[in-house]
Amino acid sequence: MNVSYLKCSLCGTEYPPDQVRYVCPKHGNTGLLDVVYDYEKINTYLSPAEMSKSHDFSIWRYWDLLPIENRATIPPLRTGWTPLYNAKHLGEKLRLSSLWLKDDGLNPTGSLKDRASSVVVAKAKELKAEVICAASSGNAGAALAGTAASAHVPAVVFAPYKAPQAKIAQLLIYGARVLLVKGTYDDAFDLSLVASKEFGWYSRNTGYNPYTAEGKKTASLEICEQLTDSQTTASSWSAPDRIFVAVGDGNIITGIWKGLRDLHTLGWIEQMPKLMGVQAEGAAACYNAWKAGTDVVTPVDAHTISDSISVGLPRDGTRAVRAVRDTEGAYLTVSDDEVLAAMRELARGEGVFAEPAGATAFAGLSKALSGNLVGRDEQIVVVVTGNGLKDVSAAMKAAGNASLIEPNLDAVRRETSGRMP
Ligand SMILES: Cc1ncc(COP(=O)(O)O)c(C=O)c1O
Ligand SMILES: [Zn+2]
Repeated sequence: MNVSYLKCSLCGTEYPPDQVRYVCPKHGNTGLLDVVYDYEKINTYLSPAEMSKSHDFSIWRYWDLLPIENRATIPPLRTGWTPLYNAKHLGEKLRLSSLWLKDDGLNPTGSLKDRASSVVVAKAKELKAEVICAASSGNAGAALAGTAASAHVPAVVFAPYKAPQAKIAQLLIYGARVLLVKGTYDDAFDLSLVASKEFGWYSRNTGYNPYTAEGKKTASLEICEQLTDSQTTASSWSAPDRIFVAVGDGNIITGIWKGLRDLHTLGWIEQMPKLMGVQAEGAAACYNAWKAGTDVVTPVDAHTISDSISVGLPRDGTRAVRAVRDTEGAYLTVSDDEVLAAMRELARGEGVFAEPAGATAFAGLSKALSGNLVGRDEQIVVVVTGNGLKDVSAAMKAAGNASLIEPNLDAVRRETSGRMP
């Protein structure tokens, strides 16, 4: 394993990985830890071209940049290496010369969160943890439940009772112990931390566990590798100009930033892409902090159709604001209607079916274009973070109703004539 130390994102204190399990002891739950690798050592034996030769089409192709001791603990469920589509139709419609969609809804439980769960379950096995628990708005829990099931580790998930049915069904079918909390995601988060301490369960909570961002960073490692022309024997990978990411707790954008930072430190990409954080208007704590020029995030009362990013107090907010500022990107907010429109456009333009939070980044791109925040000749990647089947009622809101007809040809004629090509 190439991890050198864990470093507090607030005070910079460095800890040997076996000394601290979750957060900086000096800062409590806000002192989230960055995982720092021995980049010089990695560069002595590995190159991007060498890594690209891997036949492991999962997050584990990036083994040398992941924080796990032994391959024996890798959970069986195949996660990562999701498609990066060249979105030609939508690109043309938006008059963009190079638009790409990273479809992370195609992970085994249907969201980008599988990346984090895969790494955390491996770490839990390494630490010989008997039970893993997590608070989740739905997807992180489903990812944990599925990955833990594949590795035969018991999981406990705390989710808000209003989570979409499909996500609750996922938790249950994988056999997790599901505790629906009569409260918000924020309430579930706090309760799960107390329970984890009380019962000794290993916590997968977003950001609080330093390895969630490490799993999520594989999305940006993949983006840069997939954008690289495979015909060349590249000494570096290709970073896009800009990446759009939906932000709730802020751990996905932090992970994506971390992956890019690792590559940049290694000299494997030439420039850091600008990160564009997109939040729902009704849950915009990171946007507010970024706009106010601070990285101290003030909680809001969260309301949005995008349940996965309906977060009042982003647990990884400080690093999420810094990721955008560090790369000279921007934060944007979008309305629920803009998200529903984005769901339709992704599905009809490119055949990519996203849940509301999964379409939020694309809604942000449309908004950024209307505000002239993006150059038309830039290479742009939009991360689609969750699958549309996760929230069927939101999809029906976006799509409208089907025609109900009598079973005869006249009815078909009446219904379709003049209205279809
Ligand atoms: C589909 C989807 N998109 C975006 C996010 C936002 O990620 P984060 O909370 O790390 O900012 C989540 C988090 O649950 C999610 O499930
Ligand atoms: Zn600290």
